[in-house]
Amino acid sequence: MLKNKKSVYFCQECGYESAKWMGQCPGCKAWNTFVEETVSSKKSSGGSLRTSVSNRQEPVILRDISLKEDERRTSGIGELDRVLGGGIVPGSLVLVGGDPGIGKSTLLLQVCRNLADRDASVLYISGEESLRQIKLRANRIGDFSDKLTLLCETNLENIREVMERKKPDVAVIDSIQTMFHEEISSAPGSVSQVRESTNVLMQVAKGLGISIFIVGHVTKEGNVAGPRVLEHMVDTVLYFEGDRHASYRILRAVKNRFGSTNEIGVFEMRDTGLEEVKNPSEFLLDGRPENASGSIVACSMEGTRPILVEIQALVCQSNFGIPRRTTVGTDFNRVNLLMAVLERKAGVQLASFDAYVNIAGGMKMTEPALDLGICLAIFSSYKDIVISDHVMAFGEIGLSGEVRAVSMAGQRVQEAKKLGFEKVILPEVCRASVGKIDGIELVYVSQIKDALMYVKKA
Ligand code: TYD
Ligand code: MG
Repeated sequence: MLKNKKSVYFCQECGYESAKWMGQCPGCKAWNTFVEETVSSKKSSGGSLRTSVSNRQEPVILRDISLKEDERRTSGIGELDRVLGGGIVPGSLVLVGGDPGIGKSTLLLQVCRNLADRDASVLYISGEESLRQIKLRANRIGDFSDKLTLLCETNLENIREVMERKKPDVAVIDSIQTMFHEEISSAPGSVSQVRESTNVLMQVAKGLGISIFIVGHVTKEGNVAGPRVLEHMVDTVLYFEGDRHASYRILRAVKNRFGSTNEIGVFEMRDTGLEEVKNPSEFLLDGRPENASGSIVACSMEGTRPILVEIQALVCQSNFGIPRRTTVGTDFNRVNLLMAVLERKAGVQLASFDAYVNIAGGMKMTEPALDLGICLAIFSSYKDIVISDHVMAFGEIGLSGEVRAVSMAGQRVQEAKKLGFEKVILPEVCRASVGKIDGIELVYVSQIKDALMYVKKA
C-alpha cells in the first residue's frame, strides 16, 4: 500500500508540483503556499481515458465526419448561449469561475430551470448547500419542472455512480472545491483533489455525453484554484465578474474549444435572480450627468458587440510636487501615456495637474479605441468645457499624436446612431470603411490636435 503512495508538494495558488517543500513558488512567486499531498504513484484516471480511446482506432477523413446543426442545446439565456459560442455542446465540460456571492449558483440554477422546461433531464449536485437552501433560492427564481433533480453529495465515486444510473442530459457540480475522491488523502479543495475530481468528471462527460457545468471558486489573484491544472482539462472556462456595488454582472469566456473567447454576456442581479441585459450600452449610459465637463461617451468592442460607456475625467491643480494620477476601470499606464501625448503633441500643460479617470458604471475596459475618448475627457475637464452629450468618440492614439484606425468602425457608428447620438468623432483613416451613414454627423480627425480644436469650437 505504502509503496504506491508518494508525497509531493503542491502550490495551492497555481498548482506547481515539487518533490520538496519550498518557501516561494517558482511558478507564481507566491510565498508559503506549498502543501504536502499524497498521491498514488500508479498513473490513475488520465491513463484510463486514453486506453479506452486507443483500442485500435483507424484514421478517418475529416470531411466525412458529419455534424448535426441542432447538436447544441440552448440554455434559454441568450447572453450565456452567445458566450458559449451558440449553445451548450453535448459532452462538454464548462468551468464557471467567480468571486463568492457573485451569482454563479443563481445563474446555473436558472440555466437548469430553462433546460428542464425544454424537456432536458437535469441533475444539480451541490456540495455547498443543503436541499432546503437550494429550494429557498429556487423560490425566488420561479417555478421548476419535474425534470430537474437535486443531489447533495461530495463524494465523486457516488456522483459518478448516480450519473451512470440516471444519465442526465446536463449536470451541474456546485463547486469543484467541495468534491473529493476517496483515493486521495488530501483535503477537498487541494490541488490534487481538484485535479482528480475534474478528471473523473471529464471521463463521465465524454463517456456518457453529459454536458457538465463545474463551479469553481477563485483565489486572491482571481484564478480558479489550481488554475493551470483545471483550465487545461475543461473545454470552456467562463468567468463571472462584476462590481459588488453595482447590480450588473459580466460573463466572459477565457477559453472556449467551441467558440470565440471575446464575447461577453451582461446580466443584472434582481431580487428574482439574474436578468439578461440585452442592450448594455443603454444600461451603462443611464443616469449620465447633463452639461458636465470632463465627460464623453466612447465605444469599445466586446467581441462582436459595440458597447458605449461614459468616460469621466477630473483634472485639478496638484498640491504636491509629483502630480497624482488615478484610474478606475481602465489601464493606468495607458492613461499616463495619453497624458504625455497630450502634453507634447497638443500642448496641453498637464504636468502640474492631478488627473482622475473613471469608466462610469464599474466596467473594466482596455481597448485602445477608448484612447480618443479618454483624451477628450481629460481635455474637457482641464479646460472646463462641456462636450455635448450627443457626441461619441473613438479612435486609438499613437505616440506622435496621430489618431489611428480601429476595427469595426461602422458598427460603432451604427450603435451610436441607434442610441440617439448626433455626432461621432472618429479616425480619418476609417472614412472608407465606414462609408455613408445617414442621420448622424461624422467628424473625421487625423491628429489629436484636430479633435481638441473641434470640441473647443463646438
Ligand atoms: P449566489 O448564486 O449564491 O453566488 P455564488 O454561487 O457565486 O457564491 O448569489 C448570491 C448573491 O446573489 C447573494 O448575495 C444574493 C443575491 N441574489 C439576489 O440578489 N437575487 C436573487 O434572486 C438571488 C437568488 C440571489
Ligand atoms: Mg454558490
